Amino acid sequence: MYLLLLWSCTLQAIAPKQQAVATAHPLATKVGIEILNQGGNAFDAAVAIAAVLGVVEPYNCGLGGGSFWLLHQAAKPTEQADIIIDAREKAPMSASAKKYLNAFGQVNKEKITQGPTAAGIPGQAAALVHIANQYGRLPLSKTFQEAIHLAEQGFLVDEKLALYLEYREKLLKKYPETKAVLFPNNQPLKQGAIFKQPDLAKTLTAIMNEGSAGFYQGVIADKIVSAVNQYGAEWTLDDLKQYQIKERIPLKAAIDGYQVVTMPPPSAGGITLIACLKILSQFETAQLSDADRIHLIAESLRRAYCDRANYLGDPDFIDIPTDWLISDGHIESLTQSINMMRATKSKSLDCHEMVMEGDHTTHFSVIDKEGNLVSATLTINHPFGSGFIVPGTGIILNNELDDFAIKPGKANAFELIGHAANIIAPARRPLSSMTPTFILSNDQVAILGTPGGSRIPSMVLLAALDMMDNKAVTDWVSRPRFHHQYKPDHISFEPAAFSRPLQNALKLRQHKLKNSGREYGNMQAILWDKRQNRLTAASDPRGIGEAVVSD
Ligand code: DON
Repeated sequence: MYLLLLWSCTLQAIAPKQQAVATAHPLATKVGIEILNQGGNAFDAAVAIAAVLGVVEPYNCGLGGGSFWLLHQAAKPTEQADIIIDAREKAPMSASAKKYLNAFGQVNKEKITQGPTAAGIPGQAAALVHIANQYGRLPLSKTFQEAIHLAEQGFLVDEKLALYLEYREKLLKKYPETKAVLFPNNQPLKQGAIFKQPDLAKTLTAIMNEGSAGFYQGVIADKIVSAVNQYGAEWTLDDLKQYQIKERIPLKAAIDGYQVVTMPPPSAGGITLIACLKILSQFETAQLSDADRIHLIAESLRRAYCDRANYLGDPDFIDIPTDWLISDGHIESLTQSINMMRATKSKSLDCHEMVMEGDHTTHFSVIDKEGNLVSATLTINHPFGSGFIVPGTGIILNNELDDFAIKPGKANAFELIGHAANIIAPARRPLSSMTPTFILSNDQVAILGTPGGSRIPSMVLLAALDMMDNKAVTDWVSRPRFHHQYKPDHISFEPAAFSRPLQNALKLRQHKLKNSGREYGNMQAILWDKRQNRLTAASDPRGIGEAVVSD
């Protein structure tokens, strides 16, 4: 017994001999490893990665958007080691649901998804500066260097960037500045062309030199406010000046010998993940047929997304019964309502309807040789966010306000339904699904997350279950995926996820099935196996990212 305890304590205390970075873009992975090799810690690497992603994945993230970061500081006592940086966008002070409803009380979809009226006050610049100052050890002049270089000198347009430019052409051409930057000569940038963003380089330089004030005050803030107001957005300089990131305590839960450390509200992701894992831990899932296992996962998701609709929003404005939502008593009652033979009808659950969110975002995971960890998900919401580039700044504004419930019960662009808990109001943060997560056991540490809008929590859930089944990290990121979100009342699945017989078995249990017709997600994951003190890392084969482990 004593030996066992000693062994487990030794495992806790060791540091990895290697370091690893997994991101959605090879140029971001490269800068992450370089910063670690230059003596930066995982937090410095994370700042450099996020800055580069904002340049090379302008469709996914950037200074015009927001982010959630889960950090683990190896040198801190266990209870203080994990922290969340919440750099979610906030509604401007002028925000109200009424602004987005037409004369017939219907949601004006264009206004809430396109152009400056769709944008929240960005949090990304504040996050980068805060993390560099509080957690990093290198100056921004080092960690921003590569991002500024790539913005100034340009980089080769890759297949994803070229694809998303074509996909969003109509929106992006609506705004002269966006058109000038992304469609020189009225043509989308083609794969292999060099893409330079000199204005973005200047904005990054201002933040590097002046910190947060370089973005939220002075010349750039003036440019942002005057540009968005020309398009009816009604921001003030104070909206920007008053933006602050929030440090939050991560959600933690012990489940079947694992500790899950994940994202609290204003994301629904962590509560959903923990509730589902707890429901599933009531069953001997290893003994079940594939159909029974998928049925149970779908039923757990249905119930957790129903709770999401009812209870979740910005914790700074509403009381969220987080402890109760993941309490043994509540989990027990959710579990008991599951019928193994038959799908529950979503409309039979005591639930209102909810609002859903966007489809483009990026995740990265980092571990350094000291054992510091970062799991970060960054977003501007839909591909290229609102489509609006603030003239003279290179900043592409998000369309995160579509993550609010504008009209209770009406689904948004991504079919999620929401309620009063997530109604738009001044200075509120819209409810998110982003779920940066660590999963720990005595001898393993996993760092994971993914983009994918409302499907993020189910993707992280499937990966967590794979990890708990001792599958390899490459399996977590590549496995075919399926999803249920309470409403719409169907299991959606990637084309490769369900065989015909499996589909029939699920239909027998009265599930409606919807082939999503395409693959989704872009998971970036790292596993530290402490028994062999070895790292493995993987980047989702659906994307163009890269995972590197180095000595
Ligand atoms: O915060 C959220 O949940 C969404 N705005 C994230 C959007 C997203 O993941 C799009 N991904 N492909």
